[in-house]
Amino acid sequence: MKEQISVLISKDEVEERIAQMAEEIDKAYAGKTVHLVGILKGSVFFLCELAKRITIPVTMDFMSVSSYGDKTVSSGVVKLSKDLDENIEGRDVIIVEDILDSGRTLSYLVEALSARKPESLKIITLLDKPERRVIPVDLYMTGFQVPDRFVVGYGLDCAQKYRNLPYIGVIEG
Ligand code: IMP
Ligand code: MG
Repeated sequence: MKEQISVLISKDEVEERIAQMAEEIDKAYAGKTVHLVGILKGSVFFLCELAKRITIPVTMDFMSVSSYGDKTVSSGVVKLSKDLDENIEGRDVIIVEDILDSGRTLSYLVEALSARKPESLKIITLLDKPERRVIPVDLYMTGFQVPDRFVVGYGLDCAQKYRNLPYIGVIEG
């Protein structure tokens, strides 16, 4: 059966908000180089759009962790499957993630990365689902708060599908 996707946040709304976030980063990190750490694969679309709009110097690296597998319910287990290529000691790091849900992934990442002595470490996510939080996470910035629905698009997948949708949608039914 073909799933129906309805638009929750349009492409224009997403892109306008990302532009605002880039502007805030420009101001907050003026005079510095910001090191964006993208969490694969969900953050990739967001990270690219954000990085293109930041005008201060940007470097980037990626890591891969998973707590979901191909299911829509969290297993509660966080697995590091690809580490960063570069050292982050002394750098101004921003973790870039698609969505903050239970908080398990990001709390694990903050613990793992702060042990590597970055100069600063902050988190930004495109989406935040506050109703689902199990572990508190301190967000520097988020694009949008979303209700407790399973969302796809702009990097977010359902069993690896729909990442390429240029908007945030919900699967109906
Ligand atoms: P957390 O560890 O429970 O906060 O889960 C974070 C990860 O779960 C994100 O990086 C997403 O990959 C995935 N996730 C959580 N909610 C959704 C959703 O609504 N759609 C797609 N992926 C989701
Ligand atoms: Mg993910």
